[in-house]
Amino acid sequence: MAAQDPEDAYTAEPFLPDRGGLDALRKAAAECRGCPLHRDATQTVFGAGDPHASLMLVGEQPGDQEDRRGKPFVGPAGKLLDRALEEAGIDPSDTYVTNAVKHFKFTQAEPRKRRIHKAPSLREMTACGPWLAKELELVEPELIVVLGATAGKALLGSSFRVTQVRGAVLEEEIHGRRERLVATVHPSAVLRAEDRESAYQGLVADLEVAARALG
Ligand code: URA
Ligand code: SF4
Repeated sequence: MAAQDPEDAYTAEPFLPDRGGLDALRKAAAECRGCPLHRDATQTVFGAGDPHASLMLVGEQPGDQEDRRGKPFVGPAGKLLDRALEEAGIDPSDTYVTNAVKHFKFTQAEPRKRRIHKAPSLREMTACGPWLAKELELVEPELIVVLGATAGKALLGSSFRVTQVRGAVLEEEIHGRRERLVATVHPSAVLRAEDRESAYQGLVADLEVAARALG
């Protein structure tokens, strides 16, 4: 199988189930070995939330806490995101949240030392894409919120720039479907920002655009 050849195409494709809904997809993703990231991570972190949500949020990849707990956006970035969503008038429990890449990628100086997030490569993002495509097909959101550059590149291609398109409703062809999207910064970028308050207000403003687009 191509996925077993380390030098060849990485892809989740052979691990996708033939049929079934989100639960079948989540179960199958738990066994994915479509790229090397499953080796060091604790578990697959699949999307979660309302399976019929009108709003789907797409992040980069699980972080340390998500990797341990098996759920997306449960760490510091997730807490900030929930607060921003509420401030924008969106109930977080009405959304579906997922990531472009389903396994945590990290570096670690020594065993037992802190695991430091590492950005996924284009190959890993491409490998993991079939899971996200299926999630989109099954949830059928009315609007997608793209959280940061990695999610943007995974959905819209490598020329995507958050700073150029953030805060506007876009219409793009994704995996053969016409989708409406609003791009914004990643909540982790807000946590790292020098001026955290203005970065946070920027995130809330973009989410307000999404809330209005949903009507
Ligand atoms: N950052 C992400 O992009 N996704 C998570 O699930 C957590 C942090
Ligand atoms: Fe599969 Fe994605 Fe995990 Fe790679 S990151 S092993 S493609 S689920």
